[in-house]
Amino acid sequence: DAEAALTGRRVLVTAGGTREPLDPVRFLGNRSSGKQGIALARAAAGLGADVTLIAANVEDRLLEGLSDRITVTGIETTAELQHAAQAAQPDADIIIMCAAVADYRPAETAEHKMKKSGDSGLTIGLVQNPDILAGLVDTRAEGQTIIGFAAETGSPDASAEELAQQKLLRKGCDMLVLNDVSAGQAFDRDDNSLVVYERITADPSQGETAGQSASVREVLRTAGSKENVSQ
Ligand code: C5P
Repeated sequence: DAEAALTGRRVLVTAGGTREPLDPVRFLGNRSSGKQGIALARAAAGLGADVTLIAANVEDRLLEGLSDRITVTGIETTAELQHAAQAAQPDADIIIMCAAVADYRPAETAEHKMKKSGDSGLTIGLVQNPDILAGLVDTRAEGQTIIGFAAETGSPDASAEELAQQKLLRKGCDMLVLNDVSAGQAFDRDDNSLVVYERITADPSQGETAGQSASVREVLRTAGSKENVSQ
């Protein structure tokens, strides 16, 4: 029964994009709207899962009317996303890391609004954020399926597909979903196309994970349907 593919399963989804404050009124951020992650959360709930949705800077209107099966935690920064994801990890069978996470944050956040300093320009020091996905893979519970996302344009040296396959292996997750963003696709759009890469393991203790990855593909397909995407 396709309707019950995820009955009794607990799914953690991260959506949106993290923001890193420069001062009380400014931030470094990205164009992720959260639509894709929300569509995934809705699809998982529709397939019977209990869903925790960690929403990074998602507009309230996109979170209206969600099913009772979806519990939303709103966060802003990468540190907050990491904290919320780590807290939710032990209770999740499936983790879908859809959020666009800021790779860097300002080395310092000004307590007061930064002022113009004349004509001399401004240099902002950045420090790298932890890779939350890689951390979750390190603390993975037995039988837990972890899915990463990659937004790639390809480069002169490697195609988007090659970069995605490398990322799947490097991050150690079970599946990696590629959004091709080369032609202005994917960000803040209602339509989107995905390619899924999956790591096949011969380890029998990972059998549960293999079963769940079929359910994850079902979630990805269902999330693409009109009723889950349009608000
Ligand atoms: O390396 P890249 O940022 O392209 O990897 C994307 C995947 O890694 C996404 O699943 C994203 O949610 C996750 N990520 C993360 N922590 C970061 C950067 C990305 O969990 N600091």
